[in-house]
Amino acid sequence: MQFTKLISLLAAAVVATAENTVTFVSQDSFDRTVIFTSNPNYAKLPDTVVPASKNVTVPFPQGWQGNWYAVKKGEPNIPGMLGEVAFNGWNGITYFDVSAIVNPNDKDNVKQMWPADEEEPVSGCVLFPCNFAYYLPDDVQTRATLDTNLFCSLGSRDGSTIDRRSFDFDSSPTFPRDFVVGKWSKKN
Ligand SMILES: *[C@@H]1O[C@H](CO)[C@@H](O)[C@H](O)[C@H]1NC(C)=O
Repeated sequence: MQFTKLISLLAAAVVATAENTVTFVSQDSFDRTVIFTSNPNYAKLPDTVVPASKNVTVPFPQGWQGNWYAVKKGEPNIPGMLGEVAFNGWNGITYFDVSAIVNPNDKDNVKQMWPADEEEPVSGCVLFPCNFAYYLPDDVQTRATLDTNLFCSLGSRDGSTIDRRSFDFDSSPTFPRDFVVGKWSKKN
């Protein structure tokens, strides 16, 4: 049923040349480096510095799949909370989520992801842990959008509870993590 909803969205969409981007939104006073890991056979992306309180937009190749984590300046490079994306994935839809699978203790770097031009869906947490991130492989938390411009917040504005969105009305469908790691063809 989720798929039906998405397919009808897709059919209604104006087909445009997709420019894929993620805009990293620093919400605090820490400079960070965003470190990308591409899935096998996808282009490697350079580390990107996101200065305190600044937004930095990174372009992604068509169909890119992979993830990133962020490290504060001066801190060791340890994989952390992940932002994950499969741009232009199954049926042309872009899949994304925030995942604590690798390092649930990294609570102050990657926070939330959302599409640039829509109110929802949102993945991730203002304060970790919450029910909108991946903790276990069989959680179902991947989000889908036709928007190919995403946002990813880093840190918290007051170190407290400011957020990008409320989840209260986010009724968008969720998908298994396979969709964000490019395994949809094996499941469908
Ligand atoms: C960064 O992007 C966010 C989300 O769209 C926006 O609210 C904020 O004003 C932007 N900040 C800067 C410094 O451009």
